[in-house]
Amino acid sequence: MSKNEWWKDAVIYQVYPKSFLDTNGDGIGDIKGIEQKIPYLKELGIDALWLSPVYLSPQIDNGYDIADYRQIDPMFGTNQDMFDLIETAHENKIRIIMDFVANHTSDQCLWFKESCKGGDNFFSDFYIWQDAKADGSAPNNWGSSFGGSAWEWNDSRQQYYLHYYAKEQPDLNWENPHVRQYIYDMMRFWKSKGVDGWRMDVVTSISKDWNFPDNTRPLTTSNQQNGPRMHEFIHEMNQEVLAPLDMMAVGESPAAKSYDAWELVSPKREELDMIFTFEHMHVDRKKGDVNGRWAHQPADIVQLKEILSSWQTELFGNGWNALYFENHDRARVISRWGNDQEYRYESATAFATILHGLQGTPFIFQGEEIGMTNASDFTLDDYKDIELHGNYQQYVEKAQTISAQDFLKAAGKVSRDHARTPMQWDDTINAGFTTGTPWLKTNSRYPEINVAADLSSDRSIFTYYQKLIQLRHEEKWLKEASYQLLLPKDPAIFAYLRKFENQNYLVLANLSDQAVDLPKEIQDYQVLKTFIHNYPKEISTKLAPYESYIVKVQ
Ligand code: GLC
Ligand code: CA
Repeated sequence: MSKNEWWKDAVIYQVYPKSFLDTNGDGIGDIKGIEQKIPYLKELGIDALWLSPVYLSPQIDNGYDIADYRQIDPMFGTNQDMFDLIETAHENKIRIIMDFVANHTSDQCLWFKESCKGGDNFFSDFYIWQDAKADGSAPNNWGSSFGGSAWEWNDSRQQYYLHYYAKEQPDLNWENPHVRQYIYDMMRFWKSKGVDGWRMDVVTSISKDWNFPDNTRPLTTSNQQNGPRMHEFIHEMNQEVLAPLDMMAVGESPAAKSYDAWELVSPKREELDMIFTFEHMHVDRKKGDVNGRWAHQPADIVQLKEILSSWQTELFGNGWNALYFENHDRARVISRWGNDQEYRYESATAFATILHGLQGTPFIFQGEEIGMTNASDFTLDDYKDIELHGNYQQYVEKAQTISAQDFLKAAGKVSRDHARTPMQWDDTINAGFTTGTPWLKTNSRYPEINVAADLSSDRSIFTYYQKLIQLRHEEKWLKEASYQLLLPKDPAIFAYLRKFENQNYLVLANLSDQAVDLPKEIQDYQVLKTFIHNYPKEISTKLAPYESYIVKVQ
């Protein structure tokens, strides 16, 4: 069965509902708020919205802990609000993608509560239960991504259950066919309400190694990806739901490398349509360091080029890329890798140019389109993320492998909360996000950085994105053209050539805050047409800081 591949011509916008727009003053964004901003999103030109989870949830991990997959959490609104949003979006030719979190549920999910009873209960094997070792300790030394052991003792059942994330997020047992059918039914339910596709949370973790081998290093998270039956489960889901119901699926795949990504996204294999890789997002992390994501270092641009290029070439004609720099788990790209001070406009548009010039489906995370930045003044208490606090305990307090100061410095660069601060709409109190107290502190730069200010500026980042999206819709070559990296070793310039029907297109950005000379190799191209350029000047042999453009050349 072949699917309608609408996403290949689309730009998708991710909304983090909790932080988008609050319409009832409780400090929490809601579904009505998203609906209210449909005209804004339409103006931007995007084709689909991906909503982070809005289902009933105790919010231990901001909704990535679901208690009921068919119920909208009252804090976001009602099921009817969701149906209304879907309808309004569809009237505006915007598709809706929901977050599919099926590696685990909340411990408040009825399935888990029943499972804890054990015995011949129908839900008994819905989760991953194991006996304690003879000495009472956990079945193995696996760690949770949020710190500590991945096993939690349950008194009533007298067994341990597995949780790759918080202990309130028990992992589902996909070996159990009833679990899989329950999940597929949930997907059918949302399809019947008009949902067009899924973003699949850590879908590459659904199959476990039931030998439960110890990791070489205790409390680490290796062994938690690409389990033995992963492809089989995903293929089954494709055949049962995704293909027959024509639903798009983009999977989160933390461990995928460019050379094996095709196994998940080759249309021939009938699994997923795209995956989010993590590979390019780790270019500012010290490899193999015990402190994981907190072992921060300046981004290696040469490596970034190498990785993004390998994905372009490996998947060409073989699968489809999902393109992103930001999402609800990533800090703001201009604060991490660019310059969020004097070159905020230039670096935001430079990274956008590089991403949107590639083959694949670009994803924009809320606020990225106006150059939102990391919160620069957050103290440990200002951060709310369970990952950050769990890791602080593990690395700073228990293992003492990193000082509190270095941890906080890294957090200032890479904490997930930087993406989760309230959307900055205008310069009124709390950036126009809420009339109440926001659940997470508003970024203190909101009087300067907000939608209203950006739209009235002659250097509007929003307008630049609008133009990039328009190009994606109008220029067939952006979708089809081949890819060739230029100047692979240049530490500042990211440049690539795309070829389609005997025409050449050049995408280029100076990813540094220094002016640089255009290398001879590139000077040889003659510019025939400029599609987009982030400086109001002619293209010349000198590149200004973060100067970038997309041009047709010969
Ligand atoms: C994914 C989500 C992240 C969440 C985790 C556990 O990585 O994107 O936000 O914490 O899975 O569900
Ligand atoms: Ca609200």
